[in-house]
Amino acid sequence: MTKPFNIVILISGTGSNALNLIEHFHNKTIFDKKVIIKKVISNNPSAKGLFKAQEKGVDTFVLNHKDFIKREDFDSVLASLVLKESPNLVLLAGFMRVLSEAFLSKLDIPILNIHPSYLPLHKGAHAIKDSFNDSNDFGGVSVHYVSKELDSGTILLQEKIKKACDIESFEKDIHTLEYKLYVEAVLKVLKGS
Ligand code: GRF
Repeated sequence: MTKPFNIVILISGTGSNALNLIEHFHNKTIFDKKVIIKKVISNNPSAKGLFKAQEKGVDTFVLNHKDFIKREDFDSVLASLVLKESPNLVLLAGFMRVLSEAFLSKLDIPILNIHPSYLPLHKGAHAIKDSFNDSNDFGGVSVHYVSKELDSGTILLQEKIKKACDIESFEKDIHTLEYKLYVEAVLKVLKGS
């Protein structure tokens, strides 16, 4: 009998990483586990990724952070929603909120994030632009465990990429690398679980 392996994805926007993860893992049997993307949850009601997930038959839910006065209250409700899915893994894919202890302390499972720089270089929301404008000849992508400090948890996987001549090509290369690296990271967790 294959064991189920439940994943919840958190997004805020375009959702191209979420879509890629759904296409690779949803309803697939990998390392003797039946992987199910149980839910895609967004804090942003207009996130395009919600529709992409729905088109692939994945359930979605919106929990708008603007409906909460205190960050901790949002985080606490989000944790309850995630826990309802009996998850084995939570993946942040363009989720533009820092999660506090009110979320993290309730989940005793791996929580991963993908970040478009070679961490610890260029934490924060402008990593692609900041990487492009630094003096290095490379950019990169990192997949790390989520901690309560922004983009600072233990790194699971990271890879450098040679910088393209213009920022549009660089950004495209970064996203292509993200899709490959996030899949590799999830496979690593699946293999070890
Ligand atoms: C990605 O570059 C990811 O690394 C960053 O936010 C972006 C999300 O893109 N955290 P998408 O919503 O997956 O298309």
